[in-house]
Amino acid sequence: MIELSQSPTEPAFVQDPYPFYERARAAGPFFRWTDYNLVCTGNSAAVHAIFRDRRFGREPVEPPVIPPHLAPFYAVEAHSMLELEPPRHTRLRNLVLRAFTSRRIAGLAPDITALATELALGIPRGEFDLLTAFAQPLPVRIIARLLGVPEDMAPDLLRWSNAMVGMYMAGRTRAMEDRAVAATEAFVAFLRSYVEERRARPADDLITQLIAAEMEGEKLTTDELIATCILLLNAGHEATVHTIGNGVKTLLETGTPLSALAAENVEGTVEEILRFDPALHMFTRWAYEDIEVMGHQFRRGDQVGLLLAAANRDPGVWENPARFNPARPPKPLATFGAGLHFCVGAPLARLELQIALPILFQHHPDLALVGTPAYADVYHFHGLKELRLST
Ligand code: HEM
Repeated sequence: MIELSQSPTEPAFVQDPYPFYERARAAGPFFRWTDYNLVCTGNSAAVHAIFRDRRFGREPVEPPVIPPHLAPFYAVEAHSMLELEPPRHTRLRNLVLRAFTSRRIAGLAPDITALATELALGIPRGEFDLLTAFAQPLPVRIIARLLGVPEDMAPDLLRWSNAMVGMYMAGRTRAMEDRAVAATEAFVAFLRSYVEERRARPADDLITQLIAAEMEGEKLTTDELIATCILLLNAGHEATVHTIGNGVKTLLETGTPLSALAAENVEGTVEEILRFDPALHMFTRWAYEDIEVMGHQFRRGDQVGLLLAAANRDPGVWENPARFNPARPPKPLATFGAGLHFCVGAPLARLELQIALPILFQHHPDLALVGTPAYADVYHFHGLKELRLST
């Protein structure tokens, strides 16, 4: 197996990680990424196989040693379905899925349309940043509504979530850790008191359903209820915000005609945006047994990095993968993961993109890039610092 070195914090890599992915993929299904000391794969078949293989999972084989200053952060993670395997994962995920029925998600379409229209109309003439004017408020306010959290909390939700995701970044510093812990404590304190308040005020929202499950006893503890709300509120916007940003940048850079956003084409265009430049690039799994995958022998306790954005450009699957082509035939993407932890919010994210992008361009058909957009200096999140446009 080949070893490759690439600093995940090097500015050139952060701006364009795709040449490295190509080099890595060409070297075989697996390579050792020396900077992480981690076996990784950007091979589409290997990524999908490992996501779906129950002999791999997110819970580490050996419980990690948690430094005391990070305890409040990991106390929440310990109850997050994303960090758990069955049977706890199954119980938590099923409770959430009850509220994420396809009917309920489809029912959000009028709300998403109204909010996207309001935000598009609020965009000033001249220069502006699409992220703050449009891409951030839309998913934050929709996920807050779905949960039943007041929408005027949106700025706090954004702040807490931005600080908490710092924990997953390469080159994380003590200052980032302290910010993440402070945000976790503030988020938990808000939800503890908000859940108490909401017990007396049931409504047609996810918090009410989760509180009901908690009050029935065995189904959900208060800590699980809080961790689930935090996971949904954070996961419910971080990646969608940056997919809107990356997507609009790609549409403008490639001079994609507006017809790509017409009703009959929009689904394909959104799938291509999700394939071409996704917002989350790496997830990891632990091997629970000795397992061979495509010639690589994993030992129980080994960790593997799955490079989603690399898998989405595997030339064994996609013709001319570095070309943005909204007309390509649909194939499974790695963008939302696969298997047990497949993204709960994928239908919501897709719906938001399919509604928001056409509305944005209908109201502003002359949108243009101002300068060259720069990605934030972080990995494995891949989103823009800002997206300066003119209209
Ligand atoms: C474009 C937007 C999004 C992307 C790219 C994305 C990506 C992902 C990926 C890759 C995973 C799987 C991680 C793994 O297997 O290790 C995941 C899981 C998850 N996502 Fe998303 N997501 C998006 C939007 C959303 C939204 C809108 C929500 C909530 C409403 C959401 C909620 C979740 C949850 C709860 C999980 C954990 C599922 C589990 O552990 O069973 N995501 N997401």
